[in-house]
Amino acid sequence: MGASRENIDLKRLPRHIAIIMDGNGRWAQEKGQDRLFGHFHGVESVRDIVEGCAELGIGYLTLYAFSTENWDRPAYEVTGLMELLVDTIRKEVETLNKNNIRLHVIGDMKMLPDYAQAELGEALELTASNTGLNLVMALSYSSRWELTEAVRNLARDVREGRLEPDAITQDTLHQYLSTRDFPDPELMIRTSGEYRISNFLLYQLAYAELYFTNVRWPDFRKKDLYEAILDFQGRERRFGKTSAQIQQDLTAPEGTF
Ligand code: IPE
Ligand code: IPE
Ligand code: MG
Repeated sequence: MGASRENIDLKRLPRHIAIIMDGNGRWAQEKGQDRLFGHFHGVESVRDIVEGCAELGIGYLTLYAFSTENWDRPAYEVTGLMELLVDTIRKEVETLNKNNIRLHVIGDMKMLPDYAQAELGEALELTASNTGLNLVMALSYSSRWELTEAVRNLARDVREGRLEPDAITQDTLHQYLSTRDFPDPELMIRTSGEYRISNFLLYQLAYAELYFTNVRWPDFRKKDLYEAILDFQGRERRFGKTSAQIQQDLTAPEGTF
């Protein structure tokens, strides 16, 4: 039985979905093709999923496209990926604007080749006034990189007297993260049958529901997204409380607390 869009409760959508788009290389190799062939086809999935999220009215979609560790892959793959990235962004800006989608980027942009930085900067600017789906590309991103940056900037502010150590709260730390403008993901999807986080949003995923599927990223389509969302909607999110408390919260009239 395929998951269908009609079964999704639009009032209980995850506000933010984060996806580790994995399995491009294996998908290609299983077809006797080069890994880049898989990345190339992965773009089709990105299009479909972005469209699917926009249609549903999801607020934020973060896509893990390239990790800090991925720089250590063979040079031809890294170069191919960068070219694909720039090419795709150039081609898609118009569609993003048509669909009111705003592009954001998180990650160490300084590591990207100049032409990629320039192209990205332009796309960010051109979509900056869109108010629909927020599409966050995690590029040259890793959580440990992000946390190290945050600590470095925070330490600098303390040294320069802008911040009191005793005044540091979770909200303060949040302000130093590259995700400061986004709510935490509520649903995290990883494709291709790997059960790990691979340095993705370690802090922000604290209470995300995790969903793993064997589907390789180039095969992942809207119906797979719907299946993940339906699975999410069937879960009880307790945030450390008991099930009874959660049930009571759900039935209590507003303003009870
Ligand atoms: C995910 O697919 C895309 C990137 C990491 C850029 P992979 O390239 O990791 O594919 P597998 O995991 O080797 O199959
Ligand atoms: C995680 O996938 C990074 C991206 C999807 C961009 P990897 O394929 O790099 O992760 P590992 O190496 O399997 O943990
Ligand atoms: Mg992989």
